[in-house]
Amino acid sequence: MQLDFRRKAATSEHSVWLRLLSRVTLPVAIAAQLLFASAVQAQTVDAADLAEGMRLFQQKGNCQACHGWAGDGRKMDNQMPDGANLRETKLDRNTLIMVVKCGLPGTGMPAFDRLAYSDGRCYGKKQADLQALGVRMFDPSATLQPREVEMLADFMFGKIIGKGPMDRAKCAEYWGSEVETCREFPK
Ligand code: HEC
Repeated sequence: MQLDFRRKAATSEHSVWLRLLSRVTLPVAIAAQLLFASAVQAQTVDAADLAEGMRLFQQKGNCQACHGWAGDGRKMDNQMPDGANLRETKLDRNTLIMVVKCGLPGTGMPAFDRLAYSDGRCYGKKQADLQALGVRMFDPSATLQPREVEMLADFMFGKIIGKGPMDRAKCAEYWGSEVETCREFPK
């Protein structure tokens, strides 16, 4: 009985991993890995943290290189992989944090946790598992502390996710004033 159960669990974890690689049901596959993740309390975000999150998005994490400064998938660097349109992502906060920390093996999305794939914290996989599968992760520009990933998530949920396409008014709000960049959007 015990043995049967274990074998079943191993099989389903394997299939989750395969689905992740094939990216067919990505959010579902990752959500399954988050069964043990603790629930996040609703919290108010202060302006300083939002500003720091934005700085992490544009600079330290260089998310904009692949996802665009507005997170809309219009990448800033042509040499980089095509990032997803984050304005339209359906991921919840926990899953998004997991994706930033662990990246998405099989895509150009890097893992930003310094210890990703060192101890099974990422989808239960280690470096050797990735190697065995012939998966090479894209290198992040810098690794991020857990606290920094939280601030990034706050910023993204506050300013990018579910906010619809960028326009002149949203651009001015986003940057704090109508900066040069905003002129590309019709009034
Ligand atoms: C080197 C390019 C690159 C960088 C840098 C990068 N990403 Fe990504 N990101 C990708 C790619 C490629 C995907 C997967 C697109 C796909 O599904 O085909 C992705 C997917 C994602 C997703 C999943 C979206 C979804 O709905 O499935 C999130 C969230 C995300 N990135 C956030 C970030 C954040 C936050 C940063 C900065 C800390 C970042 N990314 C930096 C390339 C990048």
